[in-house]
Amino acid sequence: MEEKIPKHVAIILDGNGRWATKRGLKRSEGHKAGFENLKKLTKHIMTTGVEILSIYAFSTENFKRDKEEVDYLMNLFIHGFKSSIKEFNSYGVKVIFSGGREPLSNLVWESMKELENSTKDNTKGILNICLNYGGRKEIVDTTKKLIEKVINKEINIEDINEEVFRKNLYNDLPPIDLLIRTSGEYRISNFMLYNLAYSEMYFTDTLFPDFNSEEFDKALYDYSKRDRRFGGNKKQ
Ligand code: FPP
Repeated sequence: MEEKIPKHVAIILDGNGRWATKRGLKRSEGHKAGFENLKKLTKHIMTTGVEILSIYAFSTENFKRDKEEVDYLMNLFIHGFKSSIKEFNSYGVKVIFSGGREPLSNLVWESMKELENSTKDNTKGILNICLNYGGRKEIVDTTKKLIEKVINKEINIEDINEEVFRKNLYNDLPPIDLLIRTSGEYRISNFMLYNLAYSEMYFTDTLFPDFNSEEFDKALYDYSKRDRRFGGNKKQ
């Protein structure tokens, strides 16, 4: 039987803070470990046949966390993105970002643009990092973008359909086949709402810094046994 590999996988990476607290470390150590794990995991995932990996790095709601933690994360993004350009290029991964501009600092924004530009010609897979991202906001922003296109006569209102809407989201990505959430939480948390409509879901108690290649392969195996009918009564 042909093995079913999801084309687009999304991960809500959760549990960095608890991973650190369990070890008597500061929460920031957990985020550092989470980022290191993300790089290793991306390398592995791109060898499995998965073409796109979307990850939830920072939501619009995460700005409500303590200033110290938000500042730490913003610095981790600035330094982490700069120092990982070589690594992502060696995997052949093109990095893109989904999310809004405000209230990110210029330094964070520039480090995102630099990583995007430096990896734009890679063809082995796409890593879509959702940062300063909210799923409802993406739908609202896309609606505004389409209204502008209609006003500017770039598109006719009757030509707007579900596929056109999806292609006008922050990035033109296919629907998500498999969503993984780590750390024993069972929520969507305002993540990629439009693209998640018919995704299979996989939940694990493993905390993100421990969610390694073997753990990912378990999720792939579980997915390969799912029977996807997309609301119909036939397998697809
Ligand atoms: C989830 O754990 C982690 C976050 C919301 C923070 C951001 C993610 C990383 C640092 C991973 C690396 C990604 C990039 C792109 C640098 P949590 O803090 O919600 O953990 P808890 O639920 O145990 O408190």
